Amino acid sequence: MSTRLKIAIQKSGRLQEDSLRILKECGIYIDNGKDQLKARAQNFPLEVLYLRNSDIPEYVQDGIADIAIVGENVVVEKQKKVQILQKLGFSKCRLAMAIPKDDEYNGLEYFQGKKLATSYPNSLKAFLDENNLNSEIHVISGSVEIAPNIGLSDGICDLVSSGSTLFKNGLKEVVEILSSQACLVCNENISEEKQAILNDLLFRMRAVLAAKN
Ligand code: PRP
Ligand code: MG
Repeated sequence: MSTRLKIAIQKSGRLQEDSLRILKECGIYIDNGKDQLKARAQNFPLEVLYLRNSDIPEYVQDGIADIAIVGENVVVEKQKKVQILQKLGFSKCRLAMAIPKDDEYNGLEYFQGKKLATSYPNSLKAFLDENNLNSEIHVISGSVEIAPNIGLSDGICDLVSSGSTLFKNGLKEVVEILSSQACLVCNENISEEKQAILNDLLFRMRAVLAAKN
């Protein structure tokens, strides 16, 4: 059997559509049997694995997938050994701190001793440590913006894109921790044969990105 490069892509979520679109713009056509978790490109030695976003860095680190399209925010949070090869210019967002809109904010001291809800505990902890802040971290896996409203926390640390989820929940953004976008990541030890396929893919992706600028 000839070698195929395995790429992990979000199974569901905001990056999936644009991830498949960029492959298509690279001239790569994927046979997409609906609900299949594995698919093959027809005209390029590529196999697509549809995985949960938060699992992707670990799968790439462990070589289950050779490469992936994933948000930088997830790469930073998961602290796995993967190499970021190329930022892809879509799914731009930021990881930010937000508090109830009527609270007075007078700097980072605000967070001292406060209870903060997040799905990004490692990134938040690093930020708090850097700023010598002692806050309590409460981890929830989604709908983080509801936490202050239901008395679960004083503030939050979560992704912001348009800002509409913050607005709808009566919160305001006060500090950005990390800016993020979709990126192509790679396992640190891929075979020479796979590296050749990857070089071809990267060449095409960079041409597509250059054409957009
Ligand atoms: C994401 C993210 C924010 C929101 C940001 O949540 O966690 O809540 O989108 O986007 P906005 O600034 O454009 O409103 P998502 O809708 O994916 O749901 P989840 O957090 O429950 O997974
Ligand atoms: Mg959310």
